[in-house]
Amino acid sequence: MGLELSAEEQRWLAGGLGPGVRKAMEIVVALGQIYGARRLVPVSSVQVAGVSYRNLGQAGLEFLREWAAQDARVRVPTTLNPAGIDLQAWQALGFSEGFAQGQLAVIEAYRRLGVHTTCTCTPYLVGTLPGLGEHVAWAESSAVSYANSILGARTNREGGPGALAAAIVGRTAAYGLHLDENRHATLRVIVRCPVRTPSDFGALGYLVGKVARDRVPYFLGLDVGQRDALKALGAAMAASGAVALYHVAGITPEAEQPDVLAPGHETLIVDDLRPAYAALNSTAREIDLAWFGCPHASLPEIEQVVRLLAGRRVKSALWITAAREVREHAQAEGLVAAVEASGGRVVADMCAVVAPMQELGLRTVATPSAKGATYLPSHAGLLVRYGTVEQCVEAAVSGVWED
Ligand code: F3S
Repeated sequence: MGLELSAEEQRWLAGGLGPGVRKAMEIVVALGQIYGARRLVPVSSVQVAGVSYRNLGQAGLEFLREWAAQDARVRVPTTLNPAGIDLQAWQALGFSEGFAQGQLAVIEAYRRLGVHTTCTCTPYLVGTLPGLGEHVAWAESSAVSYANSILGARTNREGGPGALAAAIVGRTAAYGLHLDENRHATLRVIVRCPVRTPSDFGALGYLVGKVARDRVPYFLGLDVGQRDALKALGAAMAASGAVALYHVAGITPEAEQPDVLAPGHETLIVDDLRPAYAALNSTAREIDLAWFGCPHASLPEIEQVVRLLAGRRVKSALWITAAREVREHAQAEGLVAAVEASGGRVVADMCAVVAPMQELGLRTVATPSAKGATYLPSHAGLLVRYGTVEQCVEAAVSGVWED
């Protein structure tokens, strides 16, 4: 049986609300047909990827402008993934006028489409918190993982145009992780080594993602102190593999269902995180930048860096990337001033992986993010040192990496 549309959806597909909505409906319907969906489901929020001008270029910008000119507007609350610059402080960070103008034009095109131009990979830290079983259409892999796993919401990893199309029609095709039958765990992961720090959780995620690929892991033996640890775990699994949903026994909302494990599931035992630390580390010694906030930092994560800096000046650059709203909150708490007094910055709106880092002349980065460490070499041409938050702060202060 094929995809069934309501009378209203059929009218939109026929152009009853104009060419912009028709184009969106065509994309949503095409995706539904490709993946064998039987119906569309309403979504309560959308998160759009494909924001950095480095990835979109002029052709992507024209595509957005054309859609906006066809009177397409989003129908549900919609936010953006990080851009390639801090939209306000790009000059102070050293990015070029040419790139900034292109990036600001992209943001303006999204604004004309009715998108709330908060640029973050952590919409769940700035008020978009879908509940258990709620359907959303999010695009950023770590945010998708968080929504599905920690919040129990339901989303596939949407592509850029697919997410925007879902926002314009307020619906997405019901396939993949929107359906009960695809949310069972297919890989049982038994953790037999200590997993303590956020970088340990990232290392674990890196190892499991490589094995799991797009399967659904179910973790046993994991002691999770804070949600930020799960943020690091999910982001890493989505980067080294394509994990969009995982369960943690005793922690995540769907983990206690009696049928959480699918029949025929496989088992993976992890008893050593050192292979992940080895794989994610280069031999770089001089550190140009210490980067925190991948995924974008929460307030407690900013507080931790401030605490560890303890008023000392940094020799390398130091960035904490965060959603603008989180940055504002940190500013009100005096944390931004504390970071700046040490010579660092709390940077809003952007992500180092999609920024034109070569414009800044940086060669080496220290980060406690396994996702960042996975992508920075290939996407930004940087050498990476991966370790704990403490190690990365010390590297920023001394300018060199100490093993
Ligand atoms: Fe976010 Fe960029 Fe990291 S999108 S998860 S800061 S790679």
